[in-house]
Amino acid sequence: MERILLLGGSGILGSEVLAQLQSENFDYVAPTSVDLDMRKKDNFTKFVSEFKPAWIVNCAAWTNVDGAESSFEEARQLNAIAVETLGGAADLFESKVIHLSTDYVFDGDSSEPYLETSQVHPLNKYGESKLQGERALLAVLPSAYVVRTSWLYGISGKNFVKTIVGKALRSEEARVVDDQIGNPTSARDLAIGVFSILKNQPEPGIYNYSNRGSCSWFELAQKIYETVGADTGLVHPISSGSLNFIAKRPKFSLLSKEKWISAGLSEVPNWKESLQLLMPEIISKLQ
Ligand SMILES: NC(=O)c1ccc[n+]([C@@H]2O[C@H](COP(=O)([O-])OP(=O)(O)OC[C@H]3O[C@@H](n4cnc5c(N)ncnc54)[C@H](OP(=O)(O)O)[C@@H]3O)[C@@H](O)[C@H]2O)c1
Repeated sequence: MERILLLGGSGILGSEVLAQLQSENFDYVAPTSVDLDMRKKDNFTKFVSEFKPAWIVNCAAWTNVDGAESSFEEARQLNAIAVETLGGAADLFESKVIHLSTDYVFDGDSSEPYLETSQVHPLNKYGESKLQGERALLAVLPSAYVVRTSWLYGISGKNFVKTIVGKALRSEEARVVDDQIGNPTSARDLAIGVFSILKNQPEPGIYNYSNRGSCSWFELAQKIYETVGADTGLVHPISSGSLNFIAKRPKFSLLSKEKWISAGLSEVPNWKESLQLLMPEIISKLQ
C-alpha cells in the first residue's frame, strides 16, 4: 500500500483525513507540528527522505486570518516558504502532493462562482501568503494538486459552526454578518474529496472544492440555531463593517465545482445536508 505523510493532522480538516487513514488501514505517518515543524527545512527534507511517502497531504497552515495582518512573515514562513520546501522535497523523493488553499485568494468582487482560472487578488495577508504558497508549489512541482476550499468547519479545531452551536446550546444571542456570501464546507466531505484525488489521480493543478449551495454567515447561524432547536430570533444580522475585523474578507466567495465534477472526483453534497449529518457529533463534543 502507498505510504502517506499527513501534515496538520490535528486541524479541522487534517483530523478528518487522519480518521479516514486510520479507518481504511493506510500506511501513514501524521507527525505533530512539534515532531515535525515544516518550517525547519533540513529536518523536513530529511524526514521525507527517510519515510519516502508516495503522497504528502498538506493540511497544515497558518490560519489566523487577522493575525496574519501583523505577523505576515510568520504566516508566510508556513503558508509559502514551507510549502516550497515541501514541493522541493517531494520532487527529490518522488512524492505526489495534495495541498490545501483558500477562497481568500479572491477579492470577492465577482458575481459568478470563481473558477480555478479566475483572476486572483487577495484582500488580506493570509490570502496573499496562501497564494504565494500555491504558486511556489506549482513552480517546483507542476504535478502537485492544489485544492481551494472555503468556510471550513468540522468536529475538531476552532471554527464558526462550533462557536455558533455553543451559543445556540446556551440560548445566547448571536450577532452575525449577513453581507458575506460563501459555501460552508464540511471537513468530512473535503477529506473524502482529498481521498478521491489520491485514488483517481486526475490532471494535476488547481481544483475547487466546497459544499454545494450558498448562504451568508447569518443564514448559516440561523440554520444552526434551527437544527439545535434554539430560537432563531436570537440570531441578529449585522454588517461586516460594524465588526471592525483587522483583515478584510471577500463579500462573495462561491467556488465553482465544475472542474471537480468533470474530473469524476467525489460527490459535492449540499451544505445543509452535510451540516445536518455532522451536527450530532459537533453537539456531543460541546456537551
Ligand atoms: N478553516 C477555514 O475556514 C479554511 C478555509 C479555506 C481554506 N482553508 C485551508 O484549509 C487547510 C486546512 O485548514 P484548517 O482550518 O483545517 O487548519 P487548522 O485547523 O488551523 O490546523 C492547522 C494545522 O497546521 C498545523 N501546523 C501549524 N504550524 C505548523 C508547523 N510549523 N509545522 C507543521 N504543522 C503545523 C497545526 O498543528 P498544531 O495543532 O500542532 O499546531 C494544525 O494541525 C489550510 O490549508 C487552510 O489554509 C481553511
